[in-house]
Amino acid sequence: MPVSPANLILILLLCQLMGPAASGAQEELVGGIGGFVIFPLTHSQDRIDSIIWFFERTTLVTIQPATTNKSDTVIVTNRHNQERVAFSRGNYSLKLSKLSKNDSGAYVVEIHSSSLQKPITQKYGLRVYEHLSKPRITSGLQNNKNGTCVANLTCFLEWGGEDVTYSWNSLGMTSNESHNGSILPITWRQEEEDMAFICMARNPISSNSSNPIFARKLCEGVAGDLGSTMALRITLLLIVLVSLLILLTIWRLKVKGRAYNYSRGKFDKFSLFHSANAPKGGETSLTAHIARQINAIYL
Ligand SMILES: *[C@@H]1O[C@H](CO)[C@@H](O)[C@H](O)[C@H]1NC(C)=O
Ligand SMILES: *[C@@H]1O[C@H](CO)[C@@H](O)[C@H](O)[C@H]1NC(C)=O
Ligand SMILES: *[C@@H]1O[C@H](CO)[C@@H](O)[C@H](O)[C@H]1NC(C)=O
Ligand SMILES: *[C@@H]1O[C@H](CO)[C@@H](O)[C@H](O)[C@H]1NC(C)=O
Ligand SMILES: *[C@@H]1O[C@H](CO)[C@@H](O)[C@H](O)[C@H]1NC(C)=O
Ligand SMILES: *[C@@H]1O[C@H](CO)[C@@H](O)[C@H](O)[C@H]1NC(C)=O
Ligand SMILES: *[C@@H]1O[C@H](CO)[C@@H](O)[C@H](O)[C@H]1NC(C)=O
Ligand SMILES: *[C@@H]1O[C@H](CO)[C@@H](O)[C@H](O)[C@H]1NC(C)=O
Repeated sequence: MPVSPANLILILLLCQLMGPAASGAQEELVGGIGGFVIFPLTHSQDRIDSIIWFFERTTLVTIQPATTNKSDTVIVTNRHNQERVAFSRGNYSLKLSKLSKNDSGAYVVEIHSSSLQKPITQKYGLRVYEHLSKPRITSGLQNNKNGTCVANLTCFLEWGGEDVTYSWNSLGMTSNESHNGSILPITWRQEEEDMAFICMARNPISSNSSNPIFARKLCEGVAGDLGSTMALRITLLLIVLVSLLILLTIWRLKVKGRAYNYSRGKFDKFSLFHSANAPKGGETSLTAHIARQINAIYL
């Protein structure tokens, strides 16, 4: 497409207008660990000689856009990044995948063109965050005078606490309230309806909520942690009991197995196995003896 002088002047003017503005403002981007981020690139150049992306002042990628005879030439400086970079067709926005914490930092792109006196630059800041885990709740000392329970609930994360904000929701039958901050002061009277308190932790890329903690349970002295210890004990006891039961059943089956009479066809597993095999016709079905051995192996 031939460019008329008037158009060329317009383009040059536009570029000069865009140039300083683009290089001034830094675009802030966020990404999650393991995810990807796209560094958006908008330009009005139709004849680009090269595009160079920098990370912390070192060259990340150099691109020479396609010409009539050649497809794009992409040179990734660090082999480690080879399979992590991709480009949008046409605008050359950079997509960086498999993000890790150390990808956080300053990125700059330069667009070089023979029709420009100096390259167009655009700056970006990238911060990579973890996906937040479930926040936990501790209750400080609670005051239980007069049937009025006063406590401070504290919400915290075991790890990954960068740029995290906390908020609380108090859910009741008649009212829902929210509160900002990691500490929730509560006052609850015995005769009131029960309340559930849920904490939410947020960072720029994710959020997660705690399990609810209930006012009645908390204030009856059965604090959340104590409750969960009890639950754990009961669960463990149940597991032990069930295991014992299973072992006993296995033992009994084995004893029965030894005394097993071939003609009776008493084993369900064998019966199933046998009938499933029978219609196949071509193969001889397993003998009871082999099936019994398989049965024993499965057990
Ligand atoms: C770049 O091009 C892709 C499609 O090729 C489009 O989805 C994206 O919005 C474009 N980005 C900008 C900043 O123009
Ligand atoms: C592109 O290829 C054609 C023939 O294949 C050739 O005549 C032309 O000079 C080439 N152009 C450039 C810019 O290399
Ligand atoms: C950044 O972290 C990744 C994985 O955590 C690692 O493979 C890579 O070598 C690190 N890069 C630098 C420059 O430290
Ligand atoms: C919250 O954290 C737990 C692990 O602590 C995780 O399994 C879950 O997927 C997270 N939920 C959200 C919505 O990210
Ligand atoms: C205890 O209850 C009485 C009567 O309901 C009230 O006047 C008093 O302020 C309460 N004391 C405290 C410490 O809450
Ligand atoms: C809760 O925290 C506030 C301010 O930090 C403090 O004044 C108050 O005594 C605390 N209450 C309890 C029950 O620990
Ligand atoms: C409070 O929130 C819960 C769940 O989000 C909802 O079921 C309930 O209707 C709400 N109650 C009021 C009074 O808004
Ligand atoms: C909590 O903070 C958010 C954002 O900063 C604000 O929009 C909201 O109104 C605040 N809520 C309360 C109850 O202060």
